[in-house]
Amino acid sequence: MPPRLVLAQVRNFLQLGHRTRRMSSKPSVYVTRPDVDDSGLELLRKSCQVSTWHETFPVPRSELIREVAGKDALYCALTDKVDKEVLDAAGPQLKCVATISVGYDHIDVEECRKRGIRVGFTPDVLTDATAELTLALLLATNRRLFEANRQVYNGGWKSWAPMWMCGQGLKGSRVGLLGFGRIGQEIAARIVPFKPAEITYTTRTARPEEAAAVNARHVDFDEMIRNSDFIVVCCALTPQTKEIFNASAFQKMKSNCIFINTARGGVVDQKALHDALTTKQIQAAGLDVTTPEPLPLDDPLLKLDNVVILPHIGSADIETRKEMSRITARNIIAGLADKKMEAEVSL
Ligand code: GLV
Repeated sequence: MPPRLVLAQVRNFLQLGHRTRRMSSKPSVYVTRPDVDDSGLELLRKSCQVSTWHETFPVPRSELIREVAGKDALYCALTDKVDKEVLDAAGPQLKCVATISVGYDHIDVEECRKRGIRVGFTPDVLTDATAELTLALLLATNRRLFEANRQVYNGGWKSWAPMWMCGQGLKGSRVGLLGFGRIGQEIAARIVPFKPAEITYTTRTARPEEAAAVNARHVDFDEMIRNSDFIVVCCALTPQTKEIFNASAFQKMKSNCIFINTARGGVVDQKALHDALTTKQIQAAGLDVTTPEPLPLDDPLLKLDNVVILPHIGSADIETRKEMSRITARNIIAGLADKKMEAEVSL
C-alpha cells in the first residue's frame, strides 16, 4: 500500500472513525474532500464522527470503498462515483449520501432509492454563480478573448486591423437553451440585456410562466439546433440527454453557431464536436465541462483556436462554494436525524 494511504488509515483511526463507531453515540460520516470549506466540516463535527480523505485530488476508489465501510453517511462530490459497489461496501446502516453539487449523475439514485438511502444535493445556491460563469464563457468564446489574448503575448498583435479578431455579437442573434431550470432561466435573464432577436428553449414540458419573464419561446430540439446562432447547454445529464449533441445534431446546426456547455461533458459526443469544429460545421465552442475531466493535455480539442475550455468552474465563487459546503453538511445532519433535508433528491 502506498505510504500516503497507510498514513490516511492511521489518521482516520486516530480520528476515531468507523472502527470505534459502536463505542460512540455519534453517527459516522466519511467526507471525500478535505478541501471543502471548513465551515461545513465544523457543522458536521458538532454531531458526527467525521473522517476525511486527506488529499486535494479525488479519493482513489479503493480507498473510498475501504473508508465508507460502516459509515452512516457519505459526504461526496461530483468526482466520486457512488454506485452499487460503493453502497454495498458501505453496508446497510448507510442512511444518506450528500453531494456538494447540483448535479447528481455520479450517484446511482435508483440504487439509493431501493435501499432507502436519502440523497442530498445543492441546487439554488449556485444558480447565479453558474449563470454568471456561463455568460463569461459565452462572451469569451464569441468575442475570441483567449485567442486574442494569446496574440498579445506571442507577437501576433502587429497593429490594430479592421477585421482582425472579430467575433459574433449577441445582439440580434437567436439563442437556444437546452434546459430551462433555475440555471437556464438565470442565463436567459443575463442574455436579455445583450438584445438578442430571440431566446428559445427546449425542455420536455413548456414553462410558460418562467419563459414569459425573459420572452423565451418553447421549441423542440430539432428547431432549436437548426435555428440558433448560440446554443447553451444547461440541462442535467440523464439517459435522455447523454450525447444528445452527436454528429447528426452538429450537422443540423448553422455554420456560425457557437456552442456553449456548462452542464456536463456527457451530453456531448466530443469526437463529433471536434469534427464539427475542424470542418467548420459550427463556428466555435466554449466548454466548462468535458469528458474526461481533467482533459488530457494531448486532447485534440486543446489544439483548436476556436475552442475555449475551462476546468469545470461553473459554481466556483467563494461564497457560493462555502455555502455549498454548509448545505451538504446540513443535508447530512438532517438525513441522519430523519428530518427534512434542505435540498433532497426526490427518489
Ligand atoms: C457542478 O457541476 C455541479 O453539479 O454543482
